[in-house]
Parts: sequence; C-alpha cells; structure tokens
Amino acid sequence: MVSRVIPVDPFDLVIFGGTGDLARRKILPGLYRRYCAGQMPEEARIIGAARTEMDSAGYREMVSEAISEFGGKDACDNLDAFLAMLDYVAIDARGETGWAELQQMMAGKDRIEVYYFSVAPGLFGDLAERLQQWGMAGEDSRIVVEKPFGRDLASARALNATLATYFKEQQIYRIDHYLGKETVQNLMAVRFGNMLFEPLWNRQYVDHIQITVAETVGVGGRGEYYDKSGAMRDMVQNHLMQLLCLIAMEPPARFDPDAVRDEKLKVIRALDPVLPHHLVRGQYEAEEGNEEEAPSYRDAVDNPRSRTESFVALKAHISNWRWHGTPFYLRTGKRMVARSSEITVVFKDTPHSIFAEDAGRHRNVLSIRLQPNEGITLGVTIKEPGPGGMRLVDVPLDMTFAEALGPDGGDQVDAYERLIMDVIRGNQTLFMRDDEVEAAWAWTDPIIQGWEARNDVPKPYDSGSTGPTDAGEMMRRDGREWRKVSP
Ligand code: BG6
Repeated sequence: MVSRVIPVDPFDLVIFGGTGDLARRKILPGLYRRYCAGQMPEEARIIGAARTEMDSAGYREMVSEAISEFGGKDACDNLDAFLAMLDYVAIDARGETGWAELQQMMAGKDRIEVYYFSVAPGLFGDLAERLQQWGMAGEDSRIVVEKPFGRDLASARALNATLATYFKEQQIYRIDHYLGKETVQNLMAVRFGNMLFEPLWNRQYVDHIQITVAETVGVGGRGEYYDKSGAMRDMVQNHLMQLLCLIAMEPPARFDPDAVRDEKLKVIRALDPVLPHHLVRGQYEAEEGNEEEAPSYRDAVDNPRSRTESFVALKAHISNWRWHGTPFYLRTGKRMVARSSEITVVFKDTPHSIFAEDAGRHRNVLSIRLQPNEGITLGVTIKEPGPGGMRLVDVPLDMTFAEALGPDGGDQVDAYERLIMDVIRGNQTLFMRDDEVEAAWAWTDPIIQGWEARNDVPKPYDSGSTGPTDAGEMMRRDGREWRKVSP
C-alpha cells in the first residue's frame, strides 16, 4: 500500500535554533525526507537562524552532516538540490544582530512564512517581539513553539499572553510530538472509523484503561533541564495527557482543529484531582555492574540530593457520564525494562458465565501499541482446542500495522515531518490550543505542589525494571495488574 503524497504550497521556514540538537536530529533530516517524498516544492526555502557565526555554505555543510548522522540520507540521492534551498543568518534573539538581514531575506515574497522557535523557552517571548518589531509578524505568518510550554499554570498563562500580544491563536502551533505519531492518530481512526468499538467505549463495558509510556533511556545529556522538570512535567502533563484525551474524548462532530480540541479540552477539565495515595513517584538507580554507562539518576543529573522523579504512576478519574467510576492508570518512566508505549482497554467480565466454573474466564483486552511494532491486539476468548469438555482460553487477534499494510504503510513518516507539513498547510488539528495547555497545567500543578509540600522523596527503582514496587502495589490494592512491559 503506497501512501499518497500531497505537495504543500511554497513556503519560507525560518528555524531559530537552526544549529541546535532538535534541528539537527529531527527537523532538518525530516524536511529532507519530505523533499525526497515529493512533498516540498522546489521554491521552498529553509533559513537556519542561530547565534553561531557561519555563512550559508557552512550551514549547508552542517545540515548535510546532520542528515548523514541522523537518518534520511538514503531517502533519495538529491541532497545537493535540497541543500540549495538552505540559507543561514547569524542572529541574536535579544539583540539587533542579524534581524535586518533576516527581514531582507523575507521581504517581498508572497508565500507562507513559518518561524520555528526551536530555542530555550526563555527566548520565545523575545523572538515573538523581535518578529513584530521587524515587520515579520504579518497576518499570514505562523510560529511553531516547542515544549516545554511553561512549567506550571502561571508561566504557561504568561507565555500564552505574551505570544498573544504579537500573534493570533490561529498563527500559533504548539508542538506535542506525540500527536504527530502515526499510531496516535490511529487512535482516532480506530475509535471513530469503526462501528465495533464505540458502543462499548464507556463505563458500562470498560473496567479500566491503562496508558504506559516506558523508556529504556535515562536522562542522558539533558540532566540540567530534566532535574528541574521530572517525569510529571516532561511526560505526563503533555504526552500522556494527550493520549488520555484521545482515548477518552467524545466523538468530535468533524475532524477539524477546533472540533477535536474542544473535545480534548472537555476531558482535561473533567479530570478529578489525583489523591496522594493514587500517585507513585520513582527515581532510577544505577544498573548493577554497569554504573559507569548506566549511572543512577542522581549521578546522571549530578545532583546527589535530587528529589526529582524519573517515573510516575497514577490513577486518574474522569467525572463525566461516559467514564464516571472507570479508572485510568497512567505510567511513564525512564530506564525501564523495555521501550514500549501502549494503551490498554480492559473490558469487564461477561455478566454471567454459562460454562462450568473450572472452564476459565477471560476478559477482553484491547491493546493499542504506539511504539515500537505499532499495532492492535484484541484478546478474544475461545474454546481450547481438543477433546475433554469446554475449557476457555484467551487468544490474541493480533495485527501489526507494518505486516497488515506492507512496508510503505508502516510508520514511515516521523512525527516532526508530519507536524511541519501540517503547519505549512495551516492545519492546527494536531497542535495544542492555549486553553488546552492551561487546563493540563491546572490539573498537574496541585499534584506537583502536593509533592513539594509533603517533601516527597521518590521511591528508588532498579534500572531495567518496571518501576518502584509501589506502582504494582497501587494496582494490586484495586485487584488489578499492570500490563507487562515488553519490547
Ligand atoms: C520528550 C521528552 O518530549 O519525549 C523526553 O522530553 C522523552 O524526555 C521523549 O524521552 C520521548 O519521545 P519518544 O518519541 O521517544 O517516545
């Protein structure tokens, strides 16, 4: 199955932070892959903008190396033509250097203008202000803002207000790269493109829902940022919250930006505050015998007294008609046993079993796997084959998308590629709206404040495990268990 590529209109994309890690790893290789796929018109222009002094030739060389290093080189053999689309301007977000030059580059062109803020969040406001001062915040221009979008409700509100001084909401694209993942969008396709699931998608038939985003990586070189954030701010407030919204929201009337975002917002606003005994925080220890390469969290962030969590598990409740009383268990952590992101819907028992007590009884479990090996598994109860009476067994109806759809139908398009193309098309469906981000912080803030007020110390867990034992205990108290974290 070959996917259809619809080319976008000509555009100028300015990447502030164009020499940074995200630009080199994701944005530029992603753009090259879109170019190779025939999605980018020849007239498109990409302008790297950063503090480093270099000329356009130097920038092209840097981008060429980034594409070789971070994937995409084999997408086609037209690298030189792609590099010819690139320019560079050395710029100071807070000073005057480079702005006149950038203004000149952008002048007099009747095409889509996108400014990507791939910089430290402290600079978002400065860039927005400068763009306006230099006449580049026109009605049709768009800005792309990376996470973290604030670190609490107050800072997110302040940032929204600052950006709103210079740009309208329709011009602001807040990225949560989870929304660009193929399978995350598939959640909507599965729910709203099939008759099969939606009638059962409620408190009457669903016992509980689990969302797990497990990572094997540690904090790596991002210790300074991460130690001030922790898993709650880094993963739960945004990525897991978005997954929760997509799995729990009411069907939007249309697949359009505000219809979808209105429904997601209603879910966030219906979330109950989380009780302290429904929360588990953890912090990973060093891998035994491999302390050098896999140090403890505290060593990795170089803060022996750190109380920041690298793992969170919690039980959430959504107070609305559809979900009242159905728990949503969320769990995410670094240095866990496997990299695995999965949403699992566990259905209730059949109301009455017609089979003998010793025949066995199984619940239907629908598991949507986001990464790796994207796919869907549905556990179905059948008769165990063979003679000897009626015994029941649970078998998986297993569909890995790559197998079902063939090599071209798998997850070929990286989240960033898709999201950047959506910005150019002016489609905000997969971006967070101001009220959504603020509502997510309004739910997250009391959790973090509670930990701070109680001086909460995260529970240690072994690298390569499934997190602190307390997370399992929280489930056991409810008579349930976590899904196995498997690669
Ligand atoms: C980022 C977080 O937003 O998402 C990282 O800051 C995390 O800490 C990453 O590792 C996970 O993304 P993915 O796409 O690898 O699941």
